[in-house]
Amino acid sequence: MSEFNIGLGNNDTQTRKDASSDFVSFWDKQAKNLSWFSTWEKTLDWNPPFAKWFVGGTINASYNALDIHQKNKAEKPAILWEGENGDSRVLTYNDMWKQVQKLANVLKSLGVKKGDRVTIYLPMIPELPISMLACARIGATHTVIFSGFSAAAIKDRIEDSKSKIVITADGGYRRGNVIKLKEVIDDAISDLDFVQNVIVVERTKNKISLSSKDKLWNQLMGNAFDVFPAEKLDSTHPLYILYTSGTTGKPKGVLHGTGGYLTHLHSTFKWAFDIKDSDVFFCTADIGWVTGHSYVVYGPLLHGATEVMYEGAPDFPNASRMWGIIEKYKVTIFYTTPTALRMFMKFGNDLPNSFDLSSLRLLGSVGEPINPEVWRWYFKIIGKEKCPIIDTWWQTETGGMLISALPGLETIPLKPGSGTLPIPGLKISVVDESGNEVPANTKGYLLIKNPWPGMLLTLWGDDKKYHDVYWSKYKNCYYPGDYALKDSDGYFWLLGRADDVLKVSGHRIGTAELESCLVSHNDVAESAVCGIPDEIKGEIIIAFVVLKQNVTKDVSLLEKELSIKIRNDIGAIATTQQIYFVSKLPKTRSGKIMRRLLKAIANNETIGDVSTLEDGAAVSEIQSAFDELK
Ligand code: WTA
Repeated sequence: MSEFNIGLGNNDTQTRKDASSDFVSFWDKQAKNLSWFSTWEKTLDWNPPFAKWFVGGTINASYNALDIHQKNKAEKPAILWEGENGDSRVLTYNDMWKQVQKLANVLKSLGVKKGDRVTIYLPMIPELPISMLACARIGATHTVIFSGFSAAAIKDRIEDSKSKIVITADGGYRRGNVIKLKEVIDDAISDLDFVQNVIVVERTKNKISLSSKDKLWNQLMGNAFDVFPAEKLDSTHPLYILYTSGTTGKPKGVLHGTGGYLTHLHSTFKWAFDIKDSDVFFCTADIGWVTGHSYVVYGPLLHGATEVMYEGAPDFPNASRMWGIIEKYKVTIFYTTPTALRMFMKFGNDLPNSFDLSSLRLLGSVGEPINPEVWRWYFKIIGKEKCPIIDTWWQTETGGMLISALPGLETIPLKPGSGTLPIPGLKISVVDESGNEVPANTKGYLLIKNPWPGMLLTLWGDDKKYHDVYWSKYKNCYYPGDYALKDSDGYFWLLGRADDVLKVSGHRIGTAELESCLVSHNDVAESAVCGIPDEIKGEIIIAFVVLKQNVTKDVSLLEKELSIKIRNDIGAIATTQQIYFVSKLPKTRSGKIMRRLLKAIANNETIGDVSTLEDGAAVSEIQSAFDELK
């Protein structure tokens, strides 16, 4: 079946058996691996599409990440932090515990109450997980914003979450440059009166201006008391909001709870990574994205693991930075993205081969489909043919992994490019438009047929949208928006998004957001955005723009203005590769832009049925724009 019959020798058949006989009592048993203040009365209250897990139980995420380790692991390093500029810090479980309690007292003294939201806009420094855990400790809901987003994007998110406190830094390092985060925040909140205070960590020591709202982290922490007992919170208490792009409008606030989410992470972290006390775990994800929330912050800390946290760009000062870190810290488990691997692979084998990577025993991939040839390179050159590779499929909304090989549980043959099997307790199918299961090896829509503990509670402030986006296409089933196929061995192959969400370097970007940004330019009448395949980034963004009548501006000037607009409204991650100015977009007679067509032309596929098209000339114009590109 596969040439990759490699595993770690674990063979726990009972877990799968328990899960398939009754998924609710299965998760009930898993939840008992956490420390609860009081136990629950009901394991699952399922009122589709709303699931409440461990109803009546009380728990605290920060208590489970820190307090429970103080007896046996107080002096064990929790975070081995490596700054981009070569700085380094080690924080033990005791250091983290003390810092988190201090910050909990600081937040309380600034008037933060249980249920309030706190926005965190920090670089990858230890103060970021400390801030998240301090919020969790007092029952405030954290909302972390990736440090690559612009002031306008941050403003939208702070306005939506109504955070009264923002935690930021003077600056952050990225490829040797200082990104002035405090300036971005000043801009973002200039007319948001409900923001009461901004806490500023001094990381880069660049000059910043301080207003009466601003407080320096060190000053606040210097005076703070280092004891703050964790709040006893309901299992369904909102732990965090994380904004993510969808197919319509502005980013959605994905809301995660506490007890169910932690149960999901505790279990998947153990099953997928086979975590042992002696491991050194390294996930390269930025905490601004869900992978960082789940598998840099909560997953490893729940297990009392030691992990490496890296501040900067993976290829700075050169493409061997990751290999240097693995050698320096003797990393045993490495979890990264296909985009990073494709970039490393491009630099050849000599770089990784010149480092001692022998500490590695398990490798992981996340965020986008991994090409089989990249998988093989990862296996051979990085893992030296002795490390299993787990290709983990999941989403911001799912909280944690839903499809992955699980070497901590069982040894199964691996297939390069396949996520393999659903985690225990999950029923997943591949279906057609009407919800019927498609035959083996046929492309269809991925569908999740039962609730799981890590699933989002709802979309922040919008239960209806939550229902409409995920639960309306197929009754009482969760629709993730991905294409997949299931092969004759029952293995899943994830085939990319089935909707208008792009994945650029693994970052999720909505075409709707980009289009509304482009049309808000004075000279633009209409726009359509789509992704085209890219060897390194997976996908890159191209845009088609129809100008308003009588616009006489030079197109190269317009192109510049539009690029700046995207940077200002969204952030550099949404930068377009190319903007084409066309006279019309391909539309149906009812006026809908035919993206299917744009995608097909861009991907060199056959165009298919265009009988509903309003005007065939639009297609030829776009086709020739692409031909020019080739
Ligand atoms: C894609 C990231 C193929 C998928 C954790 C999903 C993947 C979206 C994989 C969610 C994988 C994630 N193989 N595709 N292993 N992992 N995806 O919310 O399209 O940033 O729907 O979460 O990433 O992106 P998000």
